[in-house]
Amino acid sequence: VHVLITGGSGYLGRELVRRYAATGAAVTATYATRPTDGEADWRWLDVRDRAAVDSLVREVRPDLVLHTAYRQSDWATTADGAAHVAAAATDAGARLVHVSSDAVFSGHASAYDESARPDPFTPYGAAKAAAETVVATVNPGAVIARTSLIVGSDGLSPNELLTHRLAAGGDGVLFTDEFRCPVHVTDLAAGLQELAAGDHAGIFHIAGADPISRYELGILIARRDGLDSTAIRQGSRVASGIPGPLDLRLVCPATQPLLSVRLRGATEFLRAT
Ligand SMILES: NC(=O)c1ccc[n+]([C@@H]2O[C@H](COP(=O)([O-])OP(=O)(O)OC[C@H]3O[C@@H](n4cnc5c(N)ncnc54)[C@H](OP(=O)(O)O)[C@@H]3O)[C@@H](O)[C@H]2O)c1
Repeated sequence: VHVLITGGSGYLGRELVRRYAATGAAVTATYATRPTDGEADWRWLDVRDRAAVDSLVREVRPDLVLHTAYRQSDWATTADGAAHVAAAATDAGARLVHVSSDAVFSGHASAYDESARPDPFTPYGAAKAAAETVVATVNPGAVIARTSLIVGSDGLSPNELLTHRLAAGGDGVLFTDEFRCPVHVTDLAAGLQELAAGDHAGIFHIAGADPISRYELGILIARRDGLDSTAIRQGSRVASGIPGPLDLRLVCPATQPLLSVRLRGATEFLRAT
């Protein structure tokens, strides 16, 4: 089996590269600005360049494409890039798994299951929603998997790095009024791998079982890592005036029963040992 992972140099991408390499699959992985080595055939790729995407996919001839590449502030990468990857994967007859985000929702509803319609609030959420629409149209057999904050055990996810900085006295606050359903990167990657291996198509949710605030998440990370959680200051997203979803609860009632991996909540996977 030949697997192509876009955004292989990213946090989720690196975990997917490790997992697929461990299965003995041939893995081609892409990076944009952070050259990476080991466990895959690494290629530079800018997904904004349709011809470059076409040419790489034609050369690699993957059986499976996992599209994780995105850039939060860049529509051309997040939306156009997803369209380029979806079109190329479909032309090549590859199975496609597209990673999406809870950011396609505003947070105005009390919870969002797999049947909920996107109602994005931010340019990033709109770009991810546009990407979903293109992927589903170009490739109705694709898996579109929405997820929430991604956290790991190695301290290297952006949320862990931020917490470590704040616990060391760095400037900034964690919001007590912004809620998400953080997922462990290994649960997410395992879920994506399971969905990829089946013949599932459409929208899936892979998020952690517990809605918690950014502040609570930081406290849990600090305690797990033996850091001074009292150094982390609380803030209010509402008071900050930063626009965006406040209370965004992604639930997985249609997806969890399809998976053997249990999507743990943050209070469980960050429990101090
Ligand atoms: N992180 C979260 O908490 C979170 C929450 C919900 C959904 N998601 C979704 O999960 C997926 C993966 O997130 P992540 O946190 O693993 O992301 P990440 O660590 O920021 O990695 C993003 C990847 O995209 C690549 N990339 C950026 N611009 C590119 C371009 N123009 N062309 C090709 N590649 C480009 C980056 O390459 P370089 O690093 O080499 O520049 C990197 O490999 C994304 O689709 C995101 O929307 C993430």
